[in-house]
Amino acid sequence: MLSSLLNALLLLVWANQASAAHANFHVQFPWMTRTQYPKTQPELQRFVPFCGDIIHNPQRYGRIYRNFLSFSGHPGDLVSARYTRTRVPRSAEDFPHAIFDDVPIAPSGQLCVNVTLPFDTQEGEYGVMYFQAVAPTGGVQYWCLDVRMSDIITLPEDHPAMCAAGNETLIPMPDEYL
Ligand SMILES: *[C@@H]1O[C@H](CO)[C@@H](O)[C@H](O)[C@H]1NC(C)=O
Ligand SMILES: *[C@@H]1O[C@H](CO)[C@@H](O)[C@H](O)[C@H]1NC(C)=O
Repeated sequence: MLSSLLNALLLLVWANQASAAHANFHVQFPWMTRTQYPKTQPELQRFVPFCGDIIHNPQRYGRIYRNFLSFSGHPGDLVSARYTRTRVPRSAEDFPHAIFDDVPIAPSGQLCVNVTLPFDTQEGEYGVMYFQAVAPTGGVQYWCLDVRMSDIITLPEDHPAMCAAGNETLIPMPDEYL
């Protein structure tokens, strides 16, 4: 059991590195809860939801103490993170609470940011986080991620596999555990 889990992790790490040349924007932590945003014809855009489909329960997120958000993507792309209590956001403007703005992805293709949420939340509150990466060309990729606010403590230094501040190898969460 343990060794098959380890094999799955190693395979994912390998797949991650093999695809590094075509790196896309991904959220490493918290675990993803949705598919990526719907890709549609522009003329159909107003009929499709802004966020992707829910594929996993909201993730607990530490609302009070220092905590982290972790990403991978193209070096130099600028990452921003926002939050809303609306469960069905219709655009990026539906996320009124900024967590951070325009932090560049490191040359390693990784970004891990210390976060202490700069707005008030309630224990048990549900909401959606919005993460976007803007390329120098102006291209935007984004993800929505459902969270449940909790008093847990999740320090980045306790999760080196999820928070790669330098060039450590990130270990993605295998899909079958989501
Ligand atoms: C987060 O903050 C701690 C304490 O200030 C610091 O030691 C650590 O290097 C920071 N980590 C990142 C990824 O910025
Ligand atoms: C990480 O790797 C990149 C590319 O090899 C390099 O430019 C950068 O200096 C490295 N960063 C650290 C913190 O080692």
